[in-house]
Amino acid sequence: MVKKAQRATRVTATVIAGVAAAVWMISCATVDRVVVAPPMIPGAKYVGMDQCAICHEKQVKDFKLTEHAKLQLREATEKEEVQGLGCEACHGPGSLHVDAGGGKGKFIVSGKDPDACFQCHLDKKAMFSLESHHPVKEGKMSCTACHNPHGENIHMTAAMPVGRVNETCAQCHREQSRPHVFEHEALREGCTTCHNVHGSINPKMLVERDNNLCLKCHAQVASPVLPTGTLIGRMPHAGFAVTEFLKQGTCFSAGCHTAVHGSDVNSHLRY
Ligand code: HEC
Ligand code: HEC
Ligand code: HEC
Ligand code: HEC
Ligand code: HEC
Ligand code: HEC
Ligand code: HEC
Repeated sequence: MVKKAQRATRVTATVIAGVAAAVWMISCATVDRVVVAPPMIPGAKYVGMDQCAICHEKQVKDFKLTEHAKLQLREATEKEEVQGLGCEACHGPGSLHVDAGGGKGKFIVSGKDPDACFQCHLDKKAMFSLESHHPVKEGKMSCTACHNPHGENIHMTAAMPVGRVNETCAQCHREQSRPHVFEHEALREGCTTCHNVHGSINPKMLVERDNNLCLKCHAQVASPVLPTGTLIGRMPHAGFAVTEFLKQGTCFSAGCHTAVHGSDVNSHLRY
């Protein structure tokens, strides 16, 4: 039951996201990109991916197979703007780099600057400006900490096994990702069930700041014994004088289920 309800929310969310993306792409096509310009290199022209392949065979081979390459192609074809497609969409026009025989920092944009991504993913720029976010715009990490720009795993959406998303997070957040004696099954749905990793208005990039974060999976049920009582799991959580837990704060604070990522000592994830 719990799972079904959650899936329904997820489907709705996907549909909303899809509509938002469609609206965004339309507006992008008609209004033209005004906010973030593609990377520029003074005096350089676009030369196309085949030129890059002469020296960067591996990147070209990998990139051509990716969904990202196809998505970019589709968008560019719709706009009849095929120039700068592929490598040069992120690295800028490459003629001077090629003429110079290539080289680190030689007339080429390294790509680490998130602006390379924001030109097409403007919505992400907004998210990384929210109160709680990964320090990408601050230059302490880049999109590539979680996304491989050339490889298949640029897409870490539903198509990607949850385990791989969690693994990505584990590189930097071991404590939350490590195995625990008492696991919290919620983590099997992925860290992103509770965290909006591009940014959130809530502290710690939480999807919700209050008990709704937990209640979407742990339904509140009327007590069969006391008409005013509320059960979560099999445990009374409100409506009884001694168990007014819900009034004490969020499920994960106030000394309640503080071990939301799993516990080694308490099966109720208390600590
Ligand atoms: C004639 C060979 C050659 C061609 C053609 C070439 N490159 Fe390079 N490129 C290099 C070399 C050599 C390096 C330095 C690699 C290193 O130090 O690891 C380099 C480095 C780079 C870097 C890293 C820059 C940095 O500062 O870290 C990027 C990005 C890059 N090339 C993109 C491209 C793109 C895009 C194209 C096609 C438009 C292209 N290259 C064509 C030889 C070439
Ligand atoms: C979606 C944007 C994007 C596209 C498209 C792209 N790159 Fe990159 N590239 C990056 C980013 C970001 C980095 C920096 C990676 C990092 O932070 O380690 C990078 C790094 C590089 C480097 C430096 C060495 C390395 O692998 O880290 C080379 C060389 C390179 N790209 C070549 C290419 C070539 C050739 C293509 C076309 C087949 C291409 N890139 C397409 C974003 C892109
Ligand atoms: C030339 C435009 C362009 C650039 C530059 C670009 N992207 Fe994309 N990207 C797209 C399009 C188009 C899509 C598909 C629509 C969408 O999901 O927004 C996409 C999709 C994605 C997806 C989701 C893929 C999936 O399977 O759902 C990720 C992740 C992504 N991009 C990351 C990046 C990152 C990181 C960078 C910078 C290193 C970047 N993109 C640069 C055009 C671009
Ligand atoms: C801390 C890790 C992390 C960083 C940093 C990060 N992403 Fe993501 N990104 C993810 C995860 C995880 C997903 C899958 C989201 C999900 O399943 O809800 C994702 C999904 C996406 C998607 C496809 C789905 C969507 O939400 O549109 C795009 C596009 C994207 N990221 C772009 C970017 C760009 C651009 C940057 C840098 C400005 C960036 N990401 C930085 C982890 C990250
Ligand atoms: C390359 C390292 C790196 C990766 C990978 C990474 N993070 Fe982070 N994360 C950070 C840094 C750095 C901060 C900021 C810490 C700070 O501001 O003190 C952070 C902050 C956070 C915070 C907020 C912590 C707080 O106290 O406000 C959460 C939640 C978080 N990350 C979740 C994730 C998730 C989920 C993933 C996987 C999708 C992920 N991170 C991947 C480095 C990383
Ligand atoms: C069931 C929801 C949920 C899931 C799933 C989840 N988290 Fe969290 N996470 C939270 C809550 C709630 C907090 C805030 C705890 C607090 O404020 O005391 C938090 C806090 C954090 C923090 C900040 C440090 C801390 O402990 O306060 C990091 C980092 C973090 N989570 C990483 C992750 C990673 C990595 C994953 C996936 C392996 C993950 N989270 C999965 C709910 C979740
Ligand atoms: C994605 C769904 C999901 C979310 C979101 C979620 N949980 Fe869970 N949780 C589960 C599942 C599944 C179990 C294991 C089955 C059960 O005991 O209900 C579980 C078990 C628990 C348990 C152990 C139950 C016991 O026996 O005592 C606690 C405590 C718990 N969750 C607290 C939380 C808290 C606190 C939050 C919010 C921060 C939360 N959960 C968010 C799915 C979720």
